[in-house]
Amino acid sequence: MKIAIGCDHGGINLKPELIKYLESKGVEYIDFGCYDKNSVDYVDYAIKVSKSVQSKECDLGILICGTGIGMSIVANKFKGIRCGHCHDAFSAKMTRLHNNANILAFGERVIGVGLMTEIVENFIFTDFSGDERHIRRVEKIKAVENENMK
Ligand code: RB5
Repeated sequence: MKIAIGCDHGGINLKPELIKYLESKGVEYIDFGCYDKNSVDYVDYAIKVSKSVQSKECDLGILICGTGIGMSIVANKFKGIRCGHCHDAFSAKMTRLHNNANILAFGERVIGVGLMTEIVENFIFTDFSGDERHIRRVEKIKAVENENMK
């Protein structure tokens, strides 16, 4: 499994903690930046991570900004990307099980390291349920993309 990760200056303190966690689990990752505390536009980093997941260079993506909101808005503009904006471990699990989300977004100004770790663990180690009703709903999301993302 390979994870694309990205942050803006609002997520710069939590990203090293995320990296520590991924390395402790032996999970491969590509770090798309940013790499310091200078103010940047979260849009640019959400684009890099979304493209990496969309092209299947990486299996899943994780985005961190101040709130996770801006990052998730951008990621969800990409065809084939389903980004779950999660600040609790239950939602992180459910967005994989039910929505087959392929990107997770959260905010460094909202959660701490302990909760982040539980959220990330649930996200990356939960598979899509594959239940007929959830497949049908994800297919409907794809139909919405095809009709509205021209
Ligand atoms: C940056 O100040 C902040 O707006 C950004 O990190 C994010 O929270 C946007 O949604």
